[in-house]
Amino acid sequence: MNRITLSRFLLDAERQGQLADATLRELILTVANTCVAIGDAVNRGALAGVLGEAGTGNVQGEDQKKLDVIANDMLLEANEWTGQLAAMASEEMDDPYPIPAAYPQGPYLLLFDPLDGSSNIDVNISVGTIFSVLRAPEGKTGIEVADFLQRGTTQAAAGYVLYGPQTMLVLTSGHGVNGFTLDHGTGQFVLTHPLMRVPETAKEFAINMSNQRHWEAPVQRYVGELLSGKTGPRGKDFNMRWVASMVAEVHRILCRGGVFMYPKDSRDPSRPGKLRLMYEANPMSFIIEQAGGAASNGHGRILDLQPEGLHQRVAVFLGAREEVDLVTALHAD
Ligand code: AHG
Ligand code: MN
Ligand code: MN
Ligand code: MN
Repeated sequence: MNRITLSRFLLDAERQGQLADATLRELILTVANTCVAIGDAVNRGALAGVLGEAGTGNVQGEDQKKLDVIANDMLLEANEWTGQLAAMASEEMDDPYPIPAAYPQGPYLLLFDPLDGSSNIDVNISVGTIFSVLRAPEGKTGIEVADFLQRGTTQAAAGYVLYGPQTMLVLTSGHGVNGFTLDHGTGQFVLTHPLMRVPETAKEFAINMSNQRHWEAPVQRYVGELLSGKTGPRGKDFNMRWVASMVAEVHRILCRGGVFMYPKDSRDPSRPGKLRLMYEANPMSFIIEQAGGAASNGHGRILDLQPEGLHQRVAVFLGAREEVDLVTALHAD
């Protein structure tokens, strides 16, 4: 099989004008290689003493897992000296991380959720890393939060690494979505899923049903239709999955279709949802749209939202366009 490694794929993309520049190519390779090391730590688990609680909390109000912090620090250490970035931001850090003065500044901003689905790590269920790349303001030193608050449509690239039965990188730079499988023997990501597409029709939905009593009426109605099977208005049966790792849900939808939902609920009326816009919803929405799907907050396209805070939350409905359009229309009623 003519193996196309990530390095070769990115060089070809740059030559074909499908990747902005060599700096972005090197940045993606740096992130991918760091995720190989994160995956090693995830795979070694108890043997490496990386499971369990860190004993600290994050800006989200969550108790951090050791691997939340370890993965975060690995991404900072691997990227801070490269000259590709002006600053970084993460689910696990209150404020942006400026590139230390000792290192050259670069043209990009890197945002990440270093370990997504971390409630699963201690019970050996798939977790992942999500990342988003924005352009830094030209020639500006002293990057501030406001410099990160760019619409999802401005992303230069976005991707995730899923630490599952296979370790897979899924990536877009605005010219489709491509999937790479890690060859543990060589440490190289190899192109195995070129031009991934979200299947047109959905047979599965993903939502945390335990929150049903807290949902708003449009979501109650939409999920009720999904549950009513062949005799209901949808005229077909749906299956349900909930992994509690967004990366795993999005990957399943890219591979076999479906719709993923984390709606606003009444448990905390001040929150429009649980998931974070800048380093979960925006990168995943970019990927899903590039694969022919749709991503909405119930009222409009997630990628069009003007961010107001680095850790702001957003309701998420993403996957098969038909389904996302349906649930969005119900919100308009
Ligand atoms: P994180 O582990 O990075 O905090 O994200 C977890 C998110 C997302 O991955 C998943 O879809 C969702 O939380 C699960 O939420 P519930 O535990 O409420 O089901
Ligand atoms: Mn978290
Ligand atoms: Mn997450
Ligand atoms: Mn996380």
